[in-house]
Amino acid sequence: MKISIIGTGYVGLVTGTCFAEVGHSVTCVDSDLNKVELLQSGGIPIYEPGLGEMVTRNVAAGRLQFTTSTSEGVANSEVIFIAVPTPQQSDGSVNMSYIETVAREIADCITSYRIIVDKSTVPVKTAEKVAATIRRYRRANVEFDVVSNPEFLREGFAVEDLMKPDRVVVGVASQRPVAAMREIYAPFAAPFIITDTNSAELIKHAANSFLALKISYANALSVICEAAGANVQEVTRGMGLDNRIGSRFLQAGLGFGGSCFPKDLHAFIKISEELGYDFRLLKEVQNINASQMERFVKKLEEALWVLNGKTIGVLGLAFKQNTDDVRQSPAIDLCLRLQREGANLRVHDPQAMHKARPILTGVTYVDDMNLVADDCDALIIATEWPQFASVDFARARKRMRAPILLDGRNLLDPSKMEELGFIYKSIGR
Ligand SMILES: NC(=O)c1ccc[n+]([C@@H]2O[C@H](COP(=O)([O-])OP(=O)(O)OC[C@H]3O[C@@H](n4cnc5c(N)ncnc54)[C@H](O)[C@@H]3O)[C@@H](O)[C@H]2O)c1
Repeated sequence: MKISIIGTGYVGLVTGTCFAEVGHSVTCVDSDLNKVELLQSGGIPIYEPGLGEMVTRNVAAGRLQFTTSTSEGVANSEVIFIAVPTPQQSDGSVNMSYIETVAREIADCITSYRIIVDKSTVPVKTAEKVAATIRRYRRANVEFDVVSNPEFLREGFAVEDLMKPDRVVVGVASQRPVAAMREIYAPFAAPFIITDTNSAELIKHAANSFLALKISYANALSVICEAAGANVQEVTRGMGLDNRIGSRFLQAGLGFGGSCFPKDLHAFIKISEELGYDFRLLKEVQNINASQMERFVKKLEEALWVLNGKTIGVLGLAFKQNTDDVRQSPAIDLCLRLQREGANLRVHDPQAMHKARPILTGVTYVDDMNLVADDCDALIIATEWPQFASVDFARARKRMRAPILLDGRNLLDPSKMEELGFIYKSIGR
């Protein structure tokens, strides 16, 4: 199948590459010239395990190419996927201008039947609006179908999730595009769910909000566990082994962040409000998430009293492990908060330092994770990179001014850290 992807970011690049990997011919379009030139010269703009080799292999095989021209993408494809940003606006609603721009660009250059697929996360009824826009601006009376095909990948595991999806959701307004969508996804051998477009769009917001709810549930439990002298990891393990509940997304920590959960939650609350429903349950999910950060900072203040003038080491800047994405990262929020209190920061992340530099200035970026603690009054684990468990904590303890270790991701063994002489605090344990 000949496919184009408009928007070559975390979703578009990985989706396009995985489509090429299974034999489709893919043109990835992006309006960012620097990004396209980097990709054309063999570079990869994001860190995603396994992606680099896959891009190289498929470019070499002639199945994957990059361009800045939407009309070239549209001309080269039977199916056009839209994977542009849908950022949050100040009132919590979704900024649809990227999607609308692409819809008009497509309208401007289609000359024969095309299937246009919304892969971006969008409010319910977007497919109808995209179709109306294309109808309004198309030059000729060309036929087309708009399909909703939400993406469920996790950054850091995106290739794995794309190659082995739990399910593929395809929302359609007519049967005509179904065969092509089945053909595109047949090599992935996943359950294929066909719905109307509105239901497909709602599935994505409902799923992300539910995952955020699970995290906030674990975080609320962590507060109870601390008050009761229980261990939240044991409680959530005991819950999660019940396969009606499941253990994933049931870990207490600093709270969720990233480019999806906070904005999708806001959007879903707003969409519900517009549809006449006050989704108070999800508002509480947001409140719990925000208070988790406050509670963590309070723990640090209890340990250090005054933060002004203190040197604090922070391990982790990405919003989670295995990615270089720092968009709405709790780790960065924490750093900015500590800076406002007057603390000096020594920070490290295995992949995200280059993306953090423009937004987190006035800190010392440390290349070696083992040296972050040097001369610090406290050390914080802010992102759950597994390699942080093998930091040389015995050495760190000796190099620190005060032995305070705050583990915002419950990554370390409390008794081992206490044996090393740390005053060790984590979440709900
Ligand atoms: N990142 C994730 O984990 C994830 C997962 C599932 C769904 N989503 C959703 O997918 C969508 C894209 O997210 P992302 O993280 O890939 O965003 P991104 O910012 O990484 O990538 C979007 C790309 O679109 C390009 N772009 C913007 N306008 C364009 C235009 N008119 N023509 C061509 N290119 C254009 C940008 O230059 C950018 O490279 C969002 O709706 C997001 O909510 C993201």
